[in-house]
Amino acid sequence: MAYGKVDALLGIVFGDEGKGKVVDYFTPQYDVVARFAGGPNAGHTIIFDGKKFVLRSIPSGIFDPDKVNIIGNGCVLAPDLFLAEAKELEDAGYSLKERLHISKRAQLILPTHRCLDRAYEALKGKDKIGTTGKGIGPTYSDKAARVGLRVGDILHNFDEKYATLKARHERLLSDLHYEYDITEEERKWMEGIAYMREFKLTDSEVELNNYLKEGKRILAEGAQGTMLDIDHGTYPFVSSSSTTCGGVCTGLGIAPQHIGEVFGIFKAYSTRVGSGPFPVELFDSTGDALRRIGNEFGAVTGRNRRCGWLDLVALKYAVTVNGVTQLIMMKSDVLDNFDSIKVCTGYRIDGEVVADMPFDTEGCEAVYETLPGWKCDLTHMTSEEEFPKALNSYIRFIEDYVQIPIRIVSVGPDRKATIIRH
Ligand code: GDP
Ligand code: IMO
Ligand code: MG
Repeated sequence: MAYGKVDALLGIVFGDEGKGKVVDYFTPQYDVVARFAGGPNAGHTIIFDGKKFVLRSIPSGIFDPDKVNIIGNGCVLAPDLFLAEAKELEDAGYSLKERLHISKRAQLILPTHRCLDRAYEALKGKDKIGTTGKGIGPTYSDKAARVGLRVGDILHNFDEKYATLKARHERLLSDLHYEYDITEEERKWMEGIAYMREFKLTDSEVELNNYLKEGKRILAEGAQGTMLDIDHGTYPFVSSSSTTCGGVCTGLGIAPQHIGEVFGIFKAYSTRVGSGPFPVELFDSTGDALRRIGNEFGAVTGRNRRCGWLDLVALKYAVTVNGVTQLIMMKSDVLDNFDSIKVCTGYRIDGEVVADMPFDTEGCEAVYETLPGWKCDLTHMTSEEEFPKALNSYIRFIEDYVQIPIRIVSVGPDRKATIIRH
């Protein structure tokens, strides 16, 4: 039997591109959906049949009852938040235990990791990253320092292992003079540990490779986006995991030759949450309009998202770093009412215009081209034949710049508002 393939769906900018919506939309075409990076810093929104869910650690393939969903080894998991997220789904009628498998190698986020996250942010003062406060950085740091706790650890002598790592964190927090009380949080966290023991804790890399041998199709669901990748993003204003295509291989234990399509997902304009350079950021009424119309308030933290026009320098860079084979453009409807639309085609640095991503984008000035707006409602459209001329020109401009086709255009948050281009 022919080997199966792993297709990757990756956010290729600063996250919140609409990954949840498209993974849910794609799920019927796959046998397995697997998350390979990140944890509860993610917030993936899925809307269908008048219902809305925001998933953090659970893959977005969970609404299809026939599919296996896997939290891969590259992920970090907070048991208390996982319990709350899972219960919400169970209460809504989705059974999870048989079809949601958790890698034994995924790292556990302890309550004290969250304290450390906040303590380190406080220490940075005005240079803070603006993290989600979910303990992501400290957990991945412990993983790299080889002191972390993994999901598989909950099966043997867990209390002892937990006490050792907690004590280590307590020493660090005491050095930082950080005051905290995690009594209640820790109680819920331990409840989460007990709940996780009811799930299939799996050697996910073995399981996934067996699926491939059986010819099954796997969709790897990205979290965050390329510009937040620990290696390729706007370091140090990034998350702590490998969010790019290479992260699919390490975060799931899959060899590169099994990767098939790489879907790169982006919004028709740009957003960013948290600190860090953002050359296309608009501080004017246009930025406010994008935020208001696009409802750009974070799904996890509720913070305002910073907004600007589409950045083709970043998009082209991400296409290259990930080997994107198809693009998916989201939230196109948000641009419906603009007379003209700008796109950033270069950065001006010290008087010179560059089109390749520089080492540091701080202080870069965005250089724009202006295209006509379409000034009509896209939200009721169901096929590309209905697209206005100006939207087709916008699409073609992007495709010409990055040399990759835009295969899907999303025109609303609902599962159904998704248009395939042929
Ligand atoms: P993710 O983290 O990449 O899954 O994206 P988020 O869920 O954080 O943010 C995407 C937001 O845009 C969510 O509120 C979605 O419901 C919404 N959304 C997705 N696609 C579209 C679209 O085409 N149009 C509009 N207006 N909203 C969309
Ligand atoms: P999804 O999967 C947008 C940002 C945070 C912060 C930086 C580091 O929903 O697209 P962290 O808590 O990871 O240490 O924060 O990364 N960030 C995200 N921004 N979408 C996300 O996930 C994000 N996950 C982290 O705002 O700037
Ligand atoms: Mg999100």
